[in-house]
Amino acid sequence: MKALVLQALHQPLSFVPDYPEPEQINNHRIVRLNYAAINRRDIWIQKGQYAHIRVPVILGSDGSGWLDDKPVIINPGFNWGNKESHQGENFSILGMPLNGTFAEQVSVPENNIYPLPNHLSLKEGAALPLAGVTAWRALFTRGRITPKDRVLITGIGGGVAHLVMKFALAVGAQVSVTSSKDEYLERALKQGCYSMANYKEKDWAGVLKSKVNSFDLIVDSAGGAAYTSLVKLLDFGGRLVSYGGTTGVIPALSPQIIFWKQLNLLGSTMGSPKDFEDMLDFVRKHEIVPEIGDTFPLSQGQTAFEQAELGGHRKIVLEI
Ligand SMILES: NC(=O)c1ccc[n+]([C@@H]2O[C@H](COP(=O)([O-])OP(=O)(O)OC[C@H]3O[C@@H](n4cnc5c(N)ncnc54)[C@H](OP(=O)(O)O)[C@@H]3O)[C@@H](O)[C@H]2O)c1
Repeated sequence: MKALVLQALHQPLSFVPDYPEPEQINNHRIVRLNYAAINRRDIWIQKGQYAHIRVPVILGSDGSGWLDDKPVIINPGFNWGNKESHQGENFSILGMPLNGTFAEQVSVPENNIYPLPNHLSLKEGAALPLAGVTAWRALFTRGRITPKDRVLITGIGGGVAHLVMKFALAVGAQVSVTSSKDEYLERALKQGCYSMANYKEKDWAGVLKSKVNSFDLIVDSAGGAAYTSLVKLLDFGGRLVSYGGTTGVIPALSPQIIFWKQLNLLGSTMGSPKDFEDMLDFVRKHEIVPEIGDTFPLSQGQTAFEQAELGGHRKIVLEI
């Protein structure tokens, strides 16, 4: 079968036209893939910036295709474990260590295969699973969003952040956003957001404070130096959910502000099978569509990676 293989770290992906097909394993089914979508995780792995990397491997956590004669998508989280509060030690993500979706076929546990929501095309469906379940758990399971919340979402150009925004708007919350790009901010306002700030500007936190004063819920994937400013933007009893650390360690944070304002600083990763199913129900009910950017053939996977690395809320998709 055709596959895109990461042979070694820091190397371009190789297109292999005759990679061995996956073997039938107990409890697994083989999905014939039409589309796969690229996530930041795939890029981190190629760059060696991920834990316990094993190569060679076919990357790719997101995919859509056919099982028998039915269109399907795949929940990329395996072996969540039996607690809703957190994943167990055997939790893993499709696309390393197990071969992923950048290939004509993928072998996945049968329980991880779900019908494609009716309102989505196969291409749109490929862009939903990893970002969707991460956004769902961060906003609902961990963040416990309500329609009365003033919500701030950072880095709205991110694939996950953009779905967090769509979910929060569908709930009816008042949503504010940050981005490095004014065009993303303008677009978010047109989609129903309340206020915005460009985090490249020195006083971005002051801009938000002047417009909203404080937030009940903040969802962030950057961390780094800005985290302290986010904590200060929370109202008493506020929740800050982190699902990524794009800008690295948090340099200085006074405990006084955390305990005095009775804050909840929370972490979130991927999601349980229940999170995934709840996310799918919500996406179906509100007919939410992930935004697709450029599509590349599998043979141009490395070019697609370079495009995805530039960021942007539209998912880069591989056509298989
Ligand atoms: N814990 C999990 O389960 C999980 C799951 C998925 C992703 N993640 C992590 O979450 C992060 C985002 O993933 P993704 O797939 O959404 O990536 P992505 O689509 O590549 O988005 C990255 C976005 O991060 C934003 N960003 C960069 N620097 C920022 C800063 N200083 N402040 C605020 N935002 C900043 C940018 O937004 P603008 O373009 O708007 O400036 C950029 O578009 C990554 O670190 C990823 O590893 C974690």
